[in-house]
Amino acid sequence: MKMQEKINELLELRTKARLGGGEKRVEKQHSQGKYTARERILMFLDEGSFEEFDMFVTHRCTNFGMDKEKFLSDGVVTGYGTVDGRLVYVFSQDFTVFGGSLSETVSQKICKVMDQAMKVGAPVIGFNDSGGARIQEGVNSLSGYGEIFQRNIEASGVIPQISVIFGPCAGGAVYSPALTDFIMMAKNTSYMFVTGPKVVKTVTHEDITVEDLGGASVHASKSGVAHFAVDDEQQGIALLRELISYLPSNNMEVPPYVPCEDPINRLEDSLNEIIPDNPNKPYDIKEVITAIVDNGQFLEIQPNYAPNIVIGFARFNGMSVGVVANQPKYLAGCLDINASRKGARFVRFCDAFNIPLVTLEDVPGFLPGSGQEYGGIILHGAKLLYAYGEATVPKVTVILRKAYGGAYIVMSSKHLRGDINYAWPTAEIAVMGGKGAVEVLKSKEIKAIEDPQKQAEFIAEKEQEYRDVFANPYVAAKYSYIDDVIEPRNTRFRVIRALESLKNKRLENPAKKHDNLPL
Ligand code: HXC
Repeated sequence: MKMQEKINELLELRTKARLGGGEKRVEKQHSQGKYTARERILMFLDEGSFEEFDMFVTHRCTNFGMDKEKFLSDGVVTGYGTVDGRLVYVFSQDFTVFGGSLSETVSQKICKVMDQAMKVGAPVIGFNDSGGARIQEGVNSLSGYGEIFQRNIEASGVIPQISVIFGPCAGGAVYSPALTDFIMMAKNTSYMFVTGPKVVKTVTHEDITVEDLGGASVHASKSGVAHFAVDDEQQGIALLRELISYLPSNNMEVPPYVPCEDPINRLEDSLNEIIPDNPNKPYDIKEVITAIVDNGQFLEIQPNYAPNIVIGFARFNGMSVGVVANQPKYLAGCLDINASRKGARFVRFCDAFNIPLVTLEDVPGFLPGSGQEYGGIILHGAKLLYAYGEATVPKVTVILRKAYGGAYIVMSSKHLRGDINYAWPTAEIAVMGGKGAVEVLKSKEIKAIEDPQKQAEFIAEKEQEYRDVFANPYVAAKYSYIDDVIEPRNTRFRVIRALESLKNKRLENPAKKHDNLPL
């Protein structure tokens, strides 16, 4: 064969590989509002940056006549490329080849990019669209999942791992995404569950649709499994690129700096007015966040799950930070089980990847009640406490209003190695709110007053006395538990200064095999 013929042969093979499972199946994929595996990668990466691995891999199964049905690349497209010029590794399951099912060779291809990403310290992004274990391959497919899980575990906290679910993801296959840092799902075309509706029906007699059992909305609001639920794949891919812009490539690097044109000393007069005079009235903490971060840009994570705590990425003077904030608009900003888990996982992610934490606090305490106690709020609340206490990244806290009880300690207080802790003049730092305190301290006197009018007046008077002592930041300031009381409109400037001063912070936890956080 002449040189040119050989080149032509290569080009033909490439064309064949790019067709995946063939035109008909590609058409079916498109008709369902889904892009193909390669289209997704090309949309996601910087133009012209994709370098593909293992295009000529085919499966090795001979059961059930499989040896006569082979597709170049098998059921996954893998390789590397760049996002805003930064290296990332990708794998994208190809539903047009045996339903994107995971064969021994598909697993080997995925493991190769994961190993390579670990070697060079770059994120791995996986597009999931698969019928699960390749049934014809039996245990070889299961072993393939196991190999991926093990790599997910070893890579955790070393390189960012992001799972994008753009199709089915069922059975044990869901556990690879679950081991990664972020999960994105597309509404109406993707689902995740351990067992599908048919098995559910057989076992529990429950009639439920795929969407109601494991659709994007369910996982983004009820279970908390998904961090992002997007309307379509294009929106998802844009969001994915934005998310990556906040992250370092690995745990030895700091996140990329983005030049900032938003003045660092921009005063936000609206913040001097935002706290209502009535301490029981809510306001929207997101207004505070967007007022103080660069250009008002805040990438919120899990917006519809446990909305009583708000988490997400933003920048202060070009520096990437993780923002954690209580949301008075929901459950008065109380910490409950879901909020504690949500916050804890995010704090640990930021700490693992050298992303400073800015905490905005307005928390009346942990949510009381048997529902929470039976669900284990003690353990789950401890997760958030643990996460803040173990975090060694720069930690800047601003107490806006309530900082009561255990929740005061948990939310990045000085006692948990908070580096710089500020309070607004509206801060109230106390063991509990005035009403609860008076009920505990004065219950006998209250009961002794028979006239309801007089009783109410007594309670109001005692409550006021309690508030006069504790409903301010100056008691905590006197003991140096906060570093300064700041004017709300100066918050952006003060937080930026604090973060700048902490840039070279070095703090290490004691050596140990690993911790034993309350799971
Ligand atoms: C081999 C598979 C496959 C699988 C789908 N296909 N799933 N081939 N192994 N697991 C093939 C189909 O035969 C078909 O081939 C093509 O993919 C598209 O599938 P359709 O059924 O036509 O597509 P659709 O109607 O969209 O339905 C998609 C689906 C369904 C809901 C995912 O295919 C399905 O239920 N598949 C099986 C899911 C499953 O039970 N997997 C095992 C889960 S247990 P042709 O040639 O017609 O195009 C598991 C254990 C993992 O994964 C454990 C890890 C620890």
